[in-house]
This record gives sequence, C-alpha cells and structure tokens, in this order.
Amino acid sequence: MAGARILLIVGGGIAAYKACELIRLIRKAGMSVRCVLTDGGAHFVTPMTLAALSEQPVHTSLWDLKDEAEMGHIQLSREADLVVVAPATADLMARMAAGMADDLATTLLLATDKPVLAAPAMNVRMWQHAATRRNVERLRADGVTVLEPDEGPMACGEYGPGRLPEPEAILNAMEQALKSPSASSVVEKRISTSLDTSGLRGKHILVTAGPTHEPIDPVRYIANRSSGKQGFAIAEALARQGAQVTLVSGPVALPTPPGVKRVDVETAREMAAAVDAALPAEAAVLVAAVADWRVEAVGSKIKKSGAPPRIELTENPDILASLARDPRRPRLVIGFAAETEKVVEHAQAKLARKGADWIVANDVSGDVMGGQENSVHLITPQSVESWPRSSKTEVAERLAKCIVDGLKGEA
Ligand code: CTP
Repeated sequence: MAGARILLIVGGGIAAYKACELIRLIRKAGMSVRCVLTDGGAHFVTPMTLAALSEQPVHTSLWDLKDEAEMGHIQLSREADLVVVAPATADLMARMAAGMADDLATTLLLATDKPVLAAPAMNVRMWQHAATRRNVERLRADGVTVLEPDEGPMACGEYGPGRLPEPEAILNAMEQALKSPSASSVVEKRISTSLDTSGLRGKHILVTAGPTHEPIDPVRYIANRSSGKQGFAIAEALARQGAQVTLVSGPVALPTPPGVKRVDVETAREMAAAVDAALPAEAAVLVAAVADWRVEAVGSKIKKSGAPPRIELTENPDILASLARDPRRPRLVIGFAAETEKVVEHAQAKLARKGADWIVANDVSGDVMGGQENSVHLITPQSVESWPRSSKTEVAERLAKCIVDGLKGEA
C-alpha cells in the first residue's frame, strides 16, 4: 500500500472522529491522503484537524474558485488511487446511489474513475430501512465496495448494526481494494513513473532514525531530543531515487514517507534486532540517536520513599560498529555523529573507531535537534566536505545523491 494516494471523503456523522484515526493509520502505512469534508462532516470535525493530520489542504466546497483554479474537481477525483467514504451516512449513500452531484463529495464520486470504498455509519433503523437497503444494493451493483457496519451500542443509545467499522478494518479493506487488478497496476505504474528511479532503483537501503527510549521502570524512561526529522527526510529522498527503503524508527511523531517500509522500535536492543532482520542491504544510513546506556535491571515502579534511587546503567550494543563488522555488511555504511565541539575531529575519530565508510558530522550545539535545519560535514577517510547550513530536506537530497554516486563507484 505504500505510495498509494487516497482521497478520503468524511461525511456528517458522530463517527467522523474515527476518520482522524483512519488518516493516522493511512499515513503510517506509507500512503498519502487528501480529505474532502462535507458540510455535515464539518459539524463533527474541523478542516484544520484533517489538514493537520493529513498534512494536505482539505477541500470543503465545490464553489471554492481558488481550488477550481488550482485543481479542478475532476483532477482531484482522479489523481487518487482509491476513494474512501468514511463515515458514509445514509444521506450521502442515497445521493451517491442516485448519481447526484450537488456538493463537492458527490461530484467527486461521480467524476472519479478509481475504485470507491464506502464505510457506512448510521442509526440501526436507518441502516435497516428499505430505502438504505436499496441504495446499498444499487451502489454495490455500480461497483462500489460498501463495507458492513459493525454491530454494537450506538451514540444514539440504540443497539445493532450501524457503527462505523474500526479504522483498522477499513484499512484492511483498503488494502484489498488497492490489490484489485485495476487499482494495483495503476498504483505501480504511477509510483514507478513519478519517482526519479534512475539512481537507486531496486536497491535496498536501511535507515535508522529518531531516539531510543530505555525504560527505567514501567513508567519512566531515558530519552534524548532527536525528532527523527533528518532520518525521515533521508529515507524519503532515497525512496525518491527509487531505493527500497527500510526505515527503523525510534519513537517519533512523524508520518511515514511515501514508498518507505517502516519498522517502529523503542529501545536500542530492539533497533539492533530490527536492523539485523532487515539485512541484507546495499547501504545503511544510521541517523538514529541511539541511547548509549540502558538501565541494567528494570523492575516494578520505583517509589519515592527514602533516598533517591541509584540507577545502574549498562552499555547498549553499538549498532553502527556491529554492522560495519558484520559479514553481511552493506557496501556503504554511513553513520551520523552528533557533536557540540571539535565536530570534525571527533567525527573523524568516530569514523575510524566504528569502521564506517562515511560519517555525517552534525553540529548540534544550536537548535539542530528537533529543528528544521542542519549544519553538517561529510567525512570520509580521504576528505572532509563542509556543506552550507540548509534545511534537513536539502541535506537529505544531497546525501542521497552522494549515495547514488558512492554505490556506482563501488559496484
Ligand atoms: N550509534 C549506534 N549505536 C549506538 C550508538 C550510536 O548505531 N549504540 C550510531 C548512531 O546512529 C550514529 C553513530 O553511531 O550513526 C554515532 O552516534 P553518536 O551518538 O554521535 O556516537 P557515540 O558512539 O554515542 O559517541 P559519543 O556519544 O561518545 O559522541
């Protein structure tokens, strides 16, 4: 599903709040999502909520001339790989079944040439009403996948079928819909033509990103300020060059970049295991700020009685150093070095000590950790290249190009 583009139409029902969770799951699966909010839907969730979660503009009106100038409704309905209606209310399904086009949502549904999946949510009597039965039958006959609603207690106090299926179930149904022969060939063709795949086509590249969390007890942990932004930007830039990217990420609040396979971990040991499981790879870019130490014995919650506790730390595995020594070592092993002083000198020592091919040395003395910009030096055994301070995206793109050249040279 990674790389697929979803158009999500959010109808007007209390279940609209579940569309927010659905957007999160869609993004986590590596897909992008553009939302259309009906007038009814806007009574339950705001355009701003959907825009923040999808990181895309939200469309609400057919008569928004600015949108029509920038992106007509025909284009909006066709540039998606799959159209999802969640929640699909009785009214919205009736208008869909009748082929009406009296608002943006129904116009898009009539204009689309892509598969449509509807996840109904309504009161049990409305779901069982002959008119709704007729409309569902009509929609299914027209080729729309209409999911069965869940059964259970409803917001209106009644019990029965009519609840919106859980977001995970909708996501599973989306996967099936995207696998349909017509949809999957379109997605694959689009992804392969939209990416500049000349550089790293088909090459598997491993990226680590974010911090690790090391538990002190069941409620506390050791962490650091890494946001994961630089590692995620690198994963995205590599995928744009056609690489098959596995992104092993510590706990971060970032969406999965399109086309990237993401593995979430929490601790350094989990990250080491995920890196090991992802091998072999042509290259590895280890950007994660891995905690150097973990608490030796994690027991039950430490109580505040008596003197402050003494916490014994023990060393975590060094993922970069182990990978550089591994018999399955990728051809290009790149580490990051976060330094606050003698940046180049410390990074050169790290390069030798860890056995990496390159180190990207990061000056983290300012607001780099968590910020949008980065100031780096690319250090190899032969050279030091100092790059101008620039956005993390620009650093990622430049590094991806160096990796293209690096793998070419050694192939
Ligand atoms: N790294 C790793 N496993 C660790 C620690 C670090 O793979 N347990 C990797 C990081 O992902 C990064 C590089 O090693 O690519 C350097 O990380 P850094 O924290 O700067 O180096 P340290 O070895 O921790 O050195 P120090 O903290 O003493 O500067």
